[in-house]
Amino acid sequence: MPLTEITAPEAVSLAERIKLLDPWFQNLRLNGIATAPDHFLGDYPQVKWRRIADVLPDMSGASVLEVGCNAGFYAFECKRRGARRVVGVDVDEHYLAQARLAAEVLELQVEFRRASVYDLAREPETFDYVLFMGLLYHLRYPLYALDLLVRKTRRELIFQSMIRGAPASRPPAPDYGFWDETPFSQPGFPALYFIEHSFAGDPTNWWIPNPAAMEAMLRSAGLQLRAHPEPETWFCRPRPEAAAIWERELAGTL
Ligand SMILES: C[S@@+](CC[C@H](N)C(=O)[O-])C[C@H]1O[C@@H](n2cnc3c(N)ncnc32)[C@H](O)[C@@H]1O
Repeated sequence: MPLTEITAPEAVSLAERIKLLDPWFQNLRLNGIATAPDHFLGDYPQVKWRRIADVLPDMSGASVLEVGCNAGFYAFECKRRGARRVVGVDVDEHYLAQARLAAEVLELQVEFRRASVYDLAREPETFDYVLFMGLLYHLRYPLYALDLLVRKTRRELIFQSMIRGAPASRPPAPDYGFWDETPFSQPGFPALYFIEHSFAGDPTNWWIPNPAAMEAMLRSAGLQLRAHPEPETWFCRPRPEAAAIWERELAGTL
């Protein structure tokens, strides 16, 4: 058979390659083709990105880790903002295949690999910026994951979670008395809602924090909250004391 008659990969159109990787969660634009044009949250995550763009740090020359990267939207945006090394990890090979196709079409060099947030416990590399968007509520062990992420972060953790419940009403007390149950019935008291079966048709949703719990968990993991540009997103910096505690942990003296 003459070489010209062999079906080369290029002969499969980009639209077909995108279709073969359905369903897409993130709406990317690949050579003008939208991957998830009917997303229930609109042009997602572009709408989210626009809301946080004003407080994004300058990433020139920085290293970035995105955990739960899905089809790579945020990882690509970090690369566009000048990040030198961008790594995206996700547990789902289907989404990673989408991310690799997108990287090829967008001609952006991002390393995508399969890993769970829990695997970070065994990985020594740290990054200037870590993004953790839309994943906390999918985890059975959310605080453990946050503790691990803080250990990976040199400059800033960019964090987003679905949030439900009343706004935070007051700062946390230094202590709560055993016999006083009133704080627990106040709507703004830190709370995680546990989903036993399914939320929005998705059985992988477990814990949905209210705003007070979310901020308390971030602080408790050793983070300072620098900016909160929209209700679900926080820009956080590891507190220096937190780093000292981990070093002692690593040295086995705690
Ligand atoms: C709701 S999507 C959010 C995707 C993206 N970060 C965003 O905000 O658009 C959750 C993503 O986390 C991934 N994921 C779920 N459990 C994970 C885990 N334990 N470690 C890493 N990724 C995980 C899923 O495969 C999915 O891509």
